[in-house]
Amino acid sequence: MNNSIIDVITNHKSIRHFKNQKLTGDEVDTLVDAATHASTSTFSQQYSIISVTDPQKLAEIERLTGGKKWMLGSGHYFVMVADQYRNLQIAQKAGQDPYILRTTDKFLASVFDASLATENLVLAAESMGMGATIMGSILNESERIIELLGLPELTFPLLGIAVGYPETEPETKPRMPKQLQHFTDTYQLDKVISDVLPEYDAQINEYYAERGSNNRKETFSTHILSELSRDRSVRAELLANIARQGFDVDEQLKPLN
Ligand SMILES: Cc1cc2nc3c(=O)[nH]c(=O)nc-3n(C[C@H](O)[C@H](O)[C@H](O)COP(=O)(O)O)c2cc1C
Repeated sequence: MNNSIIDVITNHKSIRHFKNQKLTGDEVDTLVDAATHASTSTFSQQYSIISVTDPQKLAEIERLTGGKKWMLGSGHYFVMVADQYRNLQIAQKAGQDPYILRTTDKFLASVFDASLATENLVLAAESMGMGATIMGSILNESERIIELLGLPELTFPLLGIAVGYPETEPETKPRMPKQLQHFTDTYQLDKVISDVLPEYDAQINEYYAERGSNNRKETFSTHILSELSRDRSVRAELLANIARQGFDVDEQLKPLN
């Protein structure tokens, strides 16, 4: 079945080459509006969106995320922030200082809320003829990003989103056959993986060999194997930084008083 929304969703590809065209205030407003209409856990709206426009801050984020020049050339850059600080303000105004906002459960709720808003924002941009790339690389230097954006306790930077008008249109990356990802009633990967994964590996191999730029020899399996060899020390401080922001992410591992 097709309709214009399904078309936008299935046409998705990350865009990393942008026209030299900044988004207008109205365009930014529309994207933020679309983001905020995503569902949120317990209607608590536990995230914030920061538009980074200061050229010095953008240059610093570019440096911290590994010198991705295309990020600076985007039409707009957002940072999606897990945010329980706003609800803490509401609680404190009512004379409360609730521990619950610091729990793993609430941190995860913020991650869910921000993630859904991120996808809404990206799809809205795509429906308006723009493109985007979500950037988890801000997590490589979360402490510095927290400082740069002045993030208070009970907030945490999760994702960057570079948005803009595409300079080039890459091909969509083929997704894995649904038999590998969608099961009925019970998890059934073992029944299908040895038959179906080789087909997908061949398809991805062909995609990388034939796509318009950055061609390489890669299957889905070799891609996953190379991801496994990433340097783990890069985000070694992640949990400590989340805890430093006031989230008690290991509270359930501690003995009860
Ligand atoms: C949580 C998340 C983090 C990501 N982080 C980065 C990133 O730091 N840099 C980047 O170039 N792309 C990043 N991406 C984009 C993925 O590389 C991209 O979605 C994936 O390769 C699939 O390609 P497609 O979006 O074109 O279909 C991220 C995507 C997600 C969902």
